[in-house]
Amino acid sequence: MLEGKVAIVTGAGRGLGRAEALELGRLGAAVVVNDLGGAADGSGADASPAQRVAGEIAAAGGKAIANRGDVADWGQAKGLIDQAVETFGGLDILVNNAGFLRDKMVFNMDEDDWDSVIRVHLKGHFSTSRWATSYWRDRSKEEGGPVYARIINTASEAFLVGSPAQPNYAAAKGGITAMTLSIAQSCARYGVRANVICPRARTRMTEVLGSMYAKPEEGFDVFAPENVAPLVGFLASPAAEQISGQVFIVYGGTVSLLAGSSSTAAPSLFSPGRIARRTSRQRAAGGRRDWRIRSAGTSRADGLWRAM
Ligand SMILES: NC(=O)c1ccc[n+]([C@@H]2O[C@H](COP(=O)([O-])OP(=O)(O)OC[C@H]3O[C@@H](n4cnc5c(N)ncnc54)[C@H](O)[C@@H]3O)[C@@H](O)[C@H]2O)c1
Repeated sequence: MLEGKVAIVTGAGRGLGRAEALELGRLGAAVVVNDLGGAADGSGADASPAQRVAGEIAAAGGKAIANRGDVADWGQAKGLIDQAVETFGGLDILVNNAGFLRDKMVFNMDEDDWDSVIRVHLKGHFSTSRWATSYWRDRSKEEGGPVYARIINTASEAFLVGSPAQPNYAAAKGGITAMTLSIAQSCARYGVRANVICPRARTRMTEVLGSMYAKPEEGFDVFAPENVAPLVGFLASPAAEQISGQVFIVYGGTVSLLAGSSSTAAPSLFSPGRIARRTSRQRAAGGRRDWRIRSAGTSRADGLWRAM
C-alpha cells in the first residue's frame, strides 16, 4: 500500500508514534523515526527510543532511520525533512505526533508550563509542516503538477471537551486543528492532503488515568495504540486521495468523523430575547447537545482495523 513512499513520524520512539511508524513500515514505506526521547514532562533527551523503533522496523524487513531532533526547534525540524530527502530520496508522508503534558488548572499554571506545551505541540507541528510543505511546493512547481503529499496531525478531544486541567494542551490541540485545516486549503493545489486525528490509547501519557485505559484480562484490547495506526496508514495511502481537511476521533475499532454544524431553518433576524427563548425551550426538551460540537458519522466495528 505504501511501497516506494517515504514517511516521517515524530515522537515515534514510544506510544502512538511507535505503533504508527511500525504500521507505515509494515505497509512498505521507508520511515524516519523521530524522537527527542525526553521524560513525560518533556525534560531531558535520549537517542535510544528512536533508534530502538528504527531497529524494530528494520528487523521486520523494512527501511528506517532514527532522528533524535526536537520538532519544535526550527533548524532541527528542517534537518528532519532534509534527512528524509537525503537518505531516502524524497518525502511523501509527514505524521506529526510528538508531544508531552504539563497539566495544571489555569489558576495554578506557570508561564513555562504554558509556553513549553504550546511550543512542543503547536510549534512542533508547525515547524515540520512548514519545511515539508515548502519542499512539496517546490517539487510541484518543478514537476508542473500536484505531487504525492500527506500530512497527518495529532490533536486530542481535549480541545473539544474543555479538559479542565489542560488549558495549555487543549489550546495547542485546537491550534493544531485550525492550522491543519488551513494547510489543507492552501496546499491542495500542490497535492497536499492534510487531516487531523484525535486518538485514544494506553501510553505513557495516559497511564496516569489508571484503570480507564487498562488492558482487559481477555478479549479485544480497545485502547492498544496499534488500533489507531491503521487510520494513519489509510490517510497516508493513495486510497485517501479525496480526503483532506477532516478531523477524526479514533480508537479500538471506532473511527468518528467530526462534522461542522448545519441548519435547515430559514434565515431570519435574531434578537437576544429570541435566542434566550429558543435556548431555554431546547434545554427543557433535553437539547443540550446543540450547545456542543458533536461528532457525527460514527462507524463502528469490533476487532482490530488494518489499513489493508
Ligand atoms: N494517548 C492518548 O490517549 C492520546 C490522546 C489524545 C492525543 N494524544 C496525542 O498523541 C501524541 C502521542 O502521545 P502518546 O500518548 O503516544 O505519548 P508518549 O509520551 O508515549 O509519546 C510521545 C513521544 O513524543 C516524544 N517527544 C516529546 N517531545 C518531543 C520533541 N520536542 N521532539 C521530538 N519528540 C518529542 C517523546 O519522547 C515521546 O516518545 C501526542 O501528540 C498526544 O498529545 C494521545
